[in-house]
Amino acid sequence: MLTVIMAEQVQISQQDSELTQSADLPQKDVIKPDYATRLSQLSTLLALTQPLWQVVAFDCKYLPWQQAFPTLAAKLWRIPDTEIDLIDSNPSLLLSSLLPALEQDLQAAKQHQTLSLLPLLNRQAYELAAEINQPIDESALKHFSGHIKGRKWQQIIAFTEQAFANNHDHLPILEWCAGKGHLGRLIAKTQQGSVTSLEWQQDLCEQGQSIADKWQLDQKFICADAFADVCANTSPIKQTQHAVALHACGDLHVRLLRLASEAGTQIISISPCCYHLIQDSHYQPLSNIAKQAKLTLSRHDLQLPLQQSVIANQKHNTLRQQEIAWRLGFDSLQRTIRQSDQYLPVPTIKQSQLAGSFSDFCVWAAAQKSISIPSDTIFDDYLQQGLNRQRLTQRIDLVRHLFRQAIEQWLLIDRVCFLNEQGYQVTLTEFCPTEITPRNALIHAYKTHLV
Ligand SMILES: C[S@@+](CC[C@H](N)C(=O)[O-])C[C@H]1O[C@@H](n2cnc3c(N)ncnc32)[C@H](O)[C@@H]1O
Repeated sequence: MLTVIMAEQVQISQQDSELTQSADLPQKDVIKPDYATRLSQLSTLLALTQPLWQVVAFDCKYLPWQQAFPTLAAKLWRIPDTEIDLIDSNPSLLLSSLLPALEQDLQAAKQHQTLSLLPLLNRQAYELAAEINQPIDESALKHFSGHIKGRKWQQIIAFTEQAFANNHDHLPILEWCAGKGHLGRLIAKTQQGSVTSLEWQQDLCEQGQSIADKWQLDQKFICADAFADVCANTSPIKQTQHAVALHACGDLHVRLLRLASEAGTQIISISPCCYHLIQDSHYQPLSNIAKQAKLTLSRHDLQLPLQQSVIANQKHNTLRQQEIAWRLGFDSLQRTIRQSDQYLPVPTIKQSQLAGSFSDFCVWAAAQKSISIPSDTIFDDYLQQGLNRQRLTQRIDLVRHLFRQAIEQWLLIDRVCFLNEQGYQVTLTEFCPTEITPRNALIHAYKTHLV
């Protein structure tokens, strides 16, 4: 029986690749995780469970993995419709609800190796966060936080404390994809380093610069495209530098990792987000070890870590489910009319439309797509198909959500391994609690041998 342990410290020894979990290791005794091994384990787990998470729910007319995972399928259909949202919004409840059935199916398929890897589906705090020697005194910075929304302020405080916990070198700082440079401003104020903030939106640069000037801070904005060609002389990325990026999306933080590791930048601290915002249709692994895994991740798959459901109020949930059922009902109708088995996306609707009838919605959606609806259409049949498909998609997505953590870990560890391969010592920690932001991973890399 698997125990669901949240945010638990995990140590892996190279000799024994079985995971042993222990919540109470004192910090000095924590064995640094062997990230290469963990990446391989995650690759194995994800490859063997691929049918469960690599699926587009809207495209399905039945559970596509039903035959291979019959116990899980049966368990899923036993969950009342009214409980799905609750389970979906609570990761530990999701695991405890579905893991026993998944375990049984893997056992029946003699996938014992995968069985021992299932704890990787839990949220893992990889290493303990650095000890903060000098916490930032927020009370002295009240005037700074005025421009920044509550949670963002907490994020930048926590990120700065962690990324500069051992700030002895006082290197010049590069803030990558800075927005208005809130993070850079706090760093300039608290870390005694000059800050260069790179951002491509002119108005954000101007606003950020004027706030920095007002407080007489050593922060300069560069208005530039992160993807612009650079040469060593003109590049804002230098060796003698600490590069930081808070929530630079997809390709943007990957671009920093590549350029900074090429330049041999002394310290790099990033918190990745929006893994799906990439130019390629599929994820391009960074590290050699991830490349060997041959795991193909589409943009749809890369969105999975960001699909954290929250319980909204009952009325909101009911309307959302109604909208999904109507959209899927119309989708079944358009497939019949167009004789095409392809999902057809329909624009966003006004909430007031949901107060009307399903047939009115279909007429509106058909007009958006220049489709004419035959006069003998029995709308109730399609509404029923929509309701059936809505129950199915909810369940397919519930199972996909089991793999949110594993996929995000795989992506994070790919970045860690890449930096290792480029000669960096790397730590992977959480810089703040998930309640402040679920994108709370901090990859902190430093060069021990400078060339
Ligand atoms: C999600 S925001 C993060 C902003 C800031 N780091 C924060 O945490 O508040 C991403 C920022 O990247 C900027 N950005 C997007 N594409 C860019 C590019 N090609 N070059 C430079 N900046 C870019 C956006 O304008 C935006 O300000």
